[in-house]
Amino acid sequence: MREVNLLDSYPRSKRPIREREAARAVQREVAKQFGREYFDGDRTQGYGGYRYDGRWVAVAHRMREYYGLRAGHRILDVGCAKGFLLHDFRRVIPGVAVAGLDISAYALDHAMEDVRPFLVRGTADRLPFADQSFDLVVSINTVHNLDAARCADALREMERVSRAHKYVQVDSFLTEEQRETFERWQLTAVTYFDPDGWRRLFADSGYTGDYYWTITE
Ligand SMILES: C[S@@+](CC[C@H](N)C(=O)[O-])C[C@H]1O[C@@H](n2cnc3c(N)ncnc32)[C@H](O)[C@@H]1O
Repeated sequence: MREVNLLDSYPRSKRPIREREAARAVQREVAKQFGREYFDGDRTQGYGGYRYDGRWVAVAHRMREYYGLRAGHRILDVGCAKGFLLHDFRRVIPGVAVAGLDISAYALDHAMEDVRPFLVRGTADRLPFADQSFDLVVSINTVHNLDAARCADALREMERVSRAHKYVQVDSFLTEEQRETFERWQLTAVTYFDPDGWRRLFADSGYTGDYYWTITE
């Protein structure tokens, strides 16, 4: 289990926090449906347009090197949305087998065509996969959308279905100012801690994989 930033190549966008300051409870409820409004509606309710732009290619390269991934390995993305990372894994590691799971019917319906056959609808805390069936299980900015008990279950599920590597990235904050900014910005997270709090949850749930933080600045 290591703290390692495997998204260090991922572009950091300057987030228009002010646009979100006006986010009312109703917009958060809309976002939590993870439907069209969240992915492709306006910025007050989510991404403001979740489109493929190749930014996951460098992340796939980084994970390939870090975990020694190669043809024949099986990779699962929990909270895969439209399958961008899985699409890029297939480009970067020809012969790799991918699978994705997401709760959003909208995201899966609008997923990249080449990976769509490998995606299933479901929830992170009940993965419909056999024990030890993947060489790498990743989950990026997803498990914090579950309450603490279900979040722990989701981590246990990552542990169960992996036979080797796991990588989870979650919302966190290092300072009080970052916590306040995060709480103004975020729409869907219900479980979030500082790094020590996350490490406790990882330990309590028996999660032994790697991890890193998404910090809102
Ligand atoms: C912030 S997005 C991250 C998407 C993608 N991993 C990325 O980093 O671009 C959160 C994703 O988690 C999915 N999600 C939310 N709750 C979930 C759950 N209980 N089980 C599985 N996926 C969930 C949402 O539909 C959404 O695709």
